[in-house]
Amino acid sequence: MSTELAVIPAPVSTAARYAHVIGWGMHVPEKIVTNDDLSKIVDTNDEWIQARTGIRQRHVAADHESTVTFAVAAARKALAKANISPAEVDLIIVGTASPEHIFPSTACLVQDALGATNAGAYDLLAACTSFIYALSQASNAIKANEVDTVLVIGAEALSKITDWSDRGTCILFGDGAGAFVMQARSEPGGFVNSILRSDGSGGPSLVVPAGGTGMPASTKTVMDNQHYIKMNGREVFRFATRVMASACQEAAQRAGITIEDIDIFVPHQANKRIIESATKKLKVAPEKMVVTIQDYGNTSSASIPIAICEAIDKGQIKQNDTLMLVAFGGGLTWGAGVLKWDVPPPAPPTRVQTARRSLFYRYARVKSFFRRMIRFVESRVFGDGVN
Ligand code: COA
Repeated sequence: MSTELAVIPAPVSTAARYAHVIGWGMHVPEKIVTNDDLSKIVDTNDEWIQARTGIRQRHVAADHESTVTFAVAAARKALAKANISPAEVDLIIVGTASPEHIFPSTACLVQDALGATNAGAYDLLAACTSFIYALSQASNAIKANEVDTVLVIGAEALSKITDWSDRGTCILFGDGAGAFVMQARSEPGGFVNSILRSDGSGGPSLVVPAGGTGMPASTKTVMDNQHYIKMNGREVFRFATRVMASACQEAAQRAGITIEDIDIFVPHQANKRIIESATKKLKVAPEKMVVTIQDYGNTSSASIPIAICEAIDKGQIKQNDTLMLVAFGGGLTWGAGVLKWDVPPPAPPTRVQTARRSLFYRYARVKSFFRRMIRFVESRVFGDGVN
């Protein structure tokens, strides 16, 4: 059996190009932390957390797991659903607020793990709005005929940068990832448009103070807990309720539609009360809102793709629905995007396809290992010399 998955020829090279979602997938870690579990480590309780946030539980990374683990798992599912080879991917964008390192980018590590040998890769840091920013960039790159196929991932291991002694933040966040495969098509539809906004004057309300060049890591920064998420919850709450509805209205207006034309809203899952406030301001029926915060908490840039995967599985999102995605987060950043969910449900992969795919990933690991070995041997043979 060949270990190379078939590379499907690039689909479109004509003038009219649209960026369609052709595959999607999500992954969350196995470990679940309930509100009762949290009440054993900080002064809180299930009743308060559910009433003030809507959260019942969140998934949390094990010691050996990290942002890349979840990104790769979600990406593999999305690629399988799209039934394409990683070799066909031209670009990988990982939206994240908890990257694996400052560099190399999380996206490069995902590229290596997938064996996506023809892809460019970069991280996009717009905190919880990252996924919408990334969809916008992917869609624009496709429409500009720079790429045909883009893997867009929102991935987080926020538990690694959460202060588990701070009840104001540790109750909120969860880990996981969601991924879309976007591809050029000549039929109208797919990601229609977005509006992206920011206000850096609000940066201090949601911040990881240390570890960058502004406050490099030191014994003092570690002792002072400066490598963890710090948040002014009330300020962020006020900001979020201010921008959610107006962002949706602006994006709809730009797309030439109205709020009434939207079938399903997929808001960033940060707090159920924030979602309820947007529902009221937009005057839409609550059934039109996807709400998954109770099971996952706030998974930052992963929250929208996770919510979409869940809503598809539950039948809340159907073919030809018009979706409004809306998010806000650190930066401060916010944005909204209109997405036509018009790709027919893909056929489930056959056993042979699944086996070939798994063999491909094993082969990608072996190839990566040999590339590392060659680098090691070259450094021994040639030393540091360049002449
Ligand atoms: N358990 C129990 N009590 C808590 C608590 C907890 N986990 N956290 C705060 N409290 C207490 C406070 O100490 C305060 O007590 P006091 O009245 O005696 O001073 C009271 O509850 C109310 O605190 P407040 O901060 O006003 O609560 P809130 O209703 O604003 O809820 C958040 C706090 C964090 C849930 C809410 O502000 C929020 O969701 N903000 C937005 C956060 C967000 O979306 N961040 C991510 C952006 S992407």
